[in-house]
Amino acid sequence: MHGPSLNLLGTREPAIYGTKTLEQIDAMIVEYAGERGVEVATYQTNHEGSLIDGIHAAAEQGFAAIVVNPGAYTHTSMAIADAIRAVSIPVVEVHLSNLFARGPERAHSVTATAARGLISGFGHESYLLGIDAALRCVQTPRARTAQKPSRRGGAKKRSSALARRPRS
Ligand code: DQA
Repeated sequence: MHGPSLNLLGTREPAIYGTKTLEQIDAMIVEYAGERGVEVATYQTNHEGSLIDGIHAAAEQGFAAIVVNPGAYTHTSMAIADAIRAVSIPVVEVHLSNLFARGPERAHSVTATAARGLISGFGHESYLLGIDAALRCVQTPRARTAQKPSRRGGAKKRSSALARRPRS
């Protein structure tokens, strides 16, 4: 899931975010996941509520994990953090840039306080690393989830697939 202004990747501040378009990055994500036997759906929105709806929907529709770049909402959105806390599937937060090398206003993440973890600073490869992290969370449920109480009997959604497409 990609948040605000990530639809403009390729031309948006290329010195920071690189020259690949979102379409190209999505194609890489699909290919990378496919090589690992995982089906993914990608989604971009500029709206906070739509990101929240997307997080809820992914959990309801049987996706095994979420990899999300909340864009600038990272730094402000308690609502997205709460949505992440509200779902039981693992959520991995990713950023193209290194948030901690960009000044104090970006060197914190409200949303990552709710995520399983954070990958930041590897350009478009952050998304691929995010898939690896999500897969590890799914394949070893609860192994990396000290901050969330464990579910009796183990994780409900134990799946060999990271994600499956929503029913239309
Ligand atoms: C970003 C970092 C955010 O601070 C910024 O607002 C973005 C992109 C990244 O991927 O590096 O929109 O999430």
